[in-house]
Amino acid sequence: MLEIGGIQMKNPVVLAPMAGVCNPAFRLIAKDFGAGLVCAEMVSDKGILHENERSLKMLYVDEREKPLSLQIFGGERESLVAAAKYVDKNTNADIIDINMGCPVPKITKCDAGARWLLDPDKIYEMVAATVDAVQKPVTVKMRVGWDEDHIFAVQNAQAVERAGGAAVAVHGRTRVQMYEGTANWDIIKQVKDSVSIPVIGNGDIATPHDAKHALETYGVDGVMIGRGALGNPWMLYRTVKFLETGEIPEEPTPREKIDICMLHMDRLIDLKGENVAVREMRKHAAWYLKGLPQTGTVRNEVNTKTTRDEMSKLLFNYVEEVEARPVNKVS
Ligand SMILES: Cc1cc2nc3c(=O)[nH]c(=O)nc-3n(C[C@H](O)[C@H](O)[C@H](O)COP(=O)(O)O)c2cc1C
Repeated sequence: MLEIGGIQMKNPVVLAPMAGVCNPAFRLIAKDFGAGLVCAEMVSDKGILHENERSLKMLYVDEREKPLSLQIFGGERESLVAAAKYVDKNTNADIIDINMGCPVPKITKCDAGARWLLDPDKIYEMVAATVDAVQKPVTVKMRVGWDEDHIFAVQNAQAVERAGGAAVAVHGRTRVQMYEGTANWDIIKQVKDSVSIPVIGNGDIATPHDAKHALETYGVDGVMIGRGALGNPWMLYRTVKFLETGEIPEEPTPREKIDICMLHMDRLIDLKGENVAVREMRKHAAWYLKGLPQTGTVRNEVNTKTTRDEMSKLLFNYVEEVEARPVNKVS
C-alpha cells in the first residue's frame, strides 16, 4: 500500500495537483469519492514569502482532506526552502511536494517547474536542503525529462532519493510534449526499478482498467489521476472500487452528476464568494456535462451565468429534459 514518509494512504489512488482546480472545494469531493491522497494546486514560493494574500489562502487545508500533499514551485533553492519552511510550520498539510514538471514558459523561464529536470545535481542540492529544513516528508513531482534528448528521469529520481525525498511522482511526458502525445510508462517503470522510495505513476489514466494496468504492469506504488477526474470524481471512486473488489460501479446518472456539480459550486462559493465561484464553475460545469446526452446548448449557456440561481436553474432544467426523454431513444 502507498506509504509516504510514514503516512499511510488507504489506497493507491492519488488526485493529481491541478492549478485552478485542486482547491479545497474539489479536493474535498475527491476525498468524498475515496481518493487515497489528494494534491493541492501549485503555490508560488515567492507568493508565500511575500505573504501575498492569494498565495496564503491557497495554503488552507481542511482537516477532512487529509492526508494531503501541498505543492510549491520556484526556481531558486533559497526561496523554495524558505517557502517549504513556511508550509511546514504554518499549515496542516501532510506532505510538501516540489513542482519539477510544470511546462509553462512563464514558469520555466524563471528556472522553476520542468527546468529543474536538466540538472540532477541541482535537484539533489535543492531537495537535500529542503529535507534538512522541514519536519514533513518532502516529495517531488516531475516529468520524465525536458525533451527527448534530455531524459534524466532515472538520475533525477535517484537524486531525490539520495537527498532524502520521501517519494516521486512521475508524469510520463517530457516538458516539450506539454500535454501532447502519450505518456511513456516504460520510463516510469525504469524509475520504479531504480529507486526504493515510492514511485507514483502519472499520465493518461482515463479508466479504472488503465489504473489497474499501470499498477500491475509497471509496478508503481500509486496512480495519479488528473484530467480523468475533471468533472468526474466518479473516476476516482470507480477506480478505488475496481481495485478493491474487481467490479466497477455504474457510471453516474445526469442527476447525480449535476448534484455533485452543485455541491462543488456551493463549496467554491463558501471559499471564494458567489461572484468569483460561479465564473470559475463554468469550466467545471462543462466538464461535469461531458459524456451526457445533448449538452451542446447547455454547455454554451453555462458560460453566460453569473449567479448560483441562474446556474442551478440551467443545469436542473437540462436534467429534467434528459429525464423526460424516453429511455433508449437515440438523441
Ligand atoms: C488544468 C491542469 C492544471 C495542472 N496544474 C498542475 C500543478 O499545479 N502542478 C503539477 O505538478 N501539475 C499540474 N498539472 C499536471 C497534472 O498534475 C498531471 O501531471 C497531468 O495532467 C498528466 O496527468 P493526466 O493525464 O492524468 O491528466 C496540471 C494539469 C492540468 C490539466
